[in-house]
Amino acid sequence: MALGKELIMWKYEKKLQFPVDIKNKNVKMAKYIITQNGGANGELGATLRYLNQRYTMPDDYGKAELTDIATEEMAHMEIISAMVYQLLDGATPEELEKEGLGSQYVEHKNSVFPQNASGQSFTANYFAVTGDYLADIAEDMAAEQKARATYESLMDLTDDEDILSPLSFLRQREIIHYERFKKLYEHYEKMKTK
Ligand SMILES: [Fe+2]
Repeated sequence: MALGKELIMWKYEKKLQFPVDIKNKNVKMAKYIITQNGGANGELGATLRYLNQRYTMPDDYGKAELTDIATEEMAHMEIISAMVYQLLDGATPEELEKEGLGSQYVEHKNSVFPQNASGQSFTANYFAVTGDYLADIAEDMAAEQKARATYESLMDLTDDEDILSPLSFLRQREIIHYERFKKLYEHYEKMKTK
């Protein structure tokens, strides 16, 4: 039985922000790209960093910017997860082990698990929340630059267009987020010196 409109409280757009259609399995790239899900500069950390920092922003502009960017980072995590899933699709235990993912197979088989390229699991210590809005936004600007740099390193390691296109889209979004945080930082700096 279909739920009434008033009971559907959640609106989720059932498509990726950028399409992912990887035709060739590539365990090595999956091992590297997962870091943009569960690594220190990854999308999961970014999402949670901004969602937690937003409460101590001193005005609605800051709260809205952090919420808006955080939820976009969640969409980016979804893109990364889809990429890793497709890159690992059909990989045998032997293929995983050959690329140093034997432990991944034992713990998680071919699933998507938040970890970095060295196999370290995601930790909340990746996202700093100081309660000082200028310090937090300075951290966010650095985080966006580090994410951009990581995307560029990943792009250096492949010539598969199916992998490069979503990575290039994500890299571009990090630059836009950096610009938005920079504008917010300047806004608060001005506010503080008034
Ligand atoms: Fe970002």
